[in-house]
Amino acid sequence: MSVRNIIAVRGLNLAVRDLEASTKFYQNGWGLEEVSRGEGVVYLRATGTEHHVLALHEAPQSAFLGTRLAAPDKATVDAIHARAVGFGADVISRPHVLSAQAGGGYGFGFRTPDGITQWVSSDVAAHQDAIDDNHRPNKFSHVVIRAANFPTLQSFYTDLLDFRLSDETDGIDFLRCSRDHHSVALAKAAGPGLHHMAFEVPNLDGLMYASGNMRTQGYDVELGVGRHSGPGNNIFSFFVEPNGFAIEYTTEMEQVDDATYPKRSAQWWRDNRPNKSGCAWGMATKKSERLLSARAGKLVSELNGCDAVISKHLAG
Ligand SMILES: [Fe+2]
Repeated sequence: MSVRNIIAVRGLNLAVRDLEASTKFYQNGWGLEEVSRGEGVVYLRATGTEHHVLALHEAPQSAFLGTRLAAPDKATVDAIHARAVGFGADVISRPHVLSAQAGGGYGFGFRTPDGITQWVSSDVAAHQDAIDDNHRPNKFSHVVIRAANFPTLQSFYTDLLDFRLSDETDGIDFLRCSRDHHSVALAKAAGPGLHHMAFEVPNLDGLMYASGNMRTQGYDVELGVGRHSGPGNNIFSFFVEPNGFAIEYTTEMEQVDDATYPKRSAQWWRDNRPNKSGCAWGMATKKSERLLSARAGKLVSELNGCDAVISKHLAG
């Protein structure tokens, strides 16, 4: 596999109404760990070496503030920036030392055609040791975005950011930047906004344990445990976090080799999906109304009113 321009999705930035309640959910329930905090912002890590996989910014309304993408080195950051300018992207900053962001690094910000903020960075501080705990998320897995401007947004990821199209379906197209079948997916649904975010747990036992712990903590499983009968073939359980975002534990994501993976069309999946219910096991077939509302963005306020938060914490 050739070296990519983007090699991973580091994690997400969210605006949350109640910082302490949200931090409690993600630490005591979800299994992340606070790594640092500033005025009105908390950074949470998974068990892997990534500095943080989630940043919670206190704001009047909950909102999806965008993603953080990893580039392999500074030269690649510079090259992506040059391409973004040529692409006509709404570039927020030139590449610089990200002194205002936890973990630092070198990078720049820009907005997608849908107005979603993205940060591309390299040389972010990493933890020296991974935490040995299979019952907690080890990394950010994937983000699914409701795309307002679908064809343009897909071109933005593939032509500018060098993502590869893994599979197309009637509802969602799946994009990869590593061996994981998808790290970003674009939902053909009213947007822009966050459809759901997913964190990887090392194995099935860990996913079952983490899901059971969430139930013990009082958070209902909104869908699952199941295995996607379709792109990625990954195991899942879905919840709705306190700010109204849909959130997924996942494991056993299909690993893709660029040289051999056969990108499949929506028609192929219409004809060949192993189980039409959506769950390969025929178990997780009924989504809760709450999950459907969360995925549709009906429980959050999206980007309205968050400009001050963006400029304060994300201006780099
Ligand atoms: Fe997912």
